[in-house]
Amino acid sequence: MMNTWVCVGSVDDIPRGEGRKVALGDLVVAVFHLDDGRFLAVDHHCPHRRGPLADGLLCGKTVVCPLHGWKVDLDSGNVHGEGAALRTFPAEVREGRIYLSTREVLLTR
Ligand code: FES
Repeated sequence: MMNTWVCVGSVDDIPRGEGRKVALGDLVVAVFHLDDGRFLAVDHHCPHRRGPLADGLLCGKTVVCPLHGWKVDLDSGNVHGEGAALRTFPAEVREGRIYLSTREVLLTR
């Protein structure tokens, strides 16, 4: 079976409470390091007007879009109160490095 995980950097690259934009080919993902230590990943572009979610304010497991304030739940990808949703991508940490599942990336294109 083909390798479905891709390394997107070191745990140390993303301080707790922050996000980073990661490009996987033409797919752009926002990876967040939550205060509880988890890493969660969703599409980088906000479904409203493509705001850069990796630059948004992180509150628990919710990111607030920096452009107009839509709030995205990072576990589900759902946008609070807007009926929109983003794709989520499984993330794992192995030996201090962050991996995203490329299988999910490929299946959701
Ligand atoms: S672009 Fe994200 S809320 Fe408008």
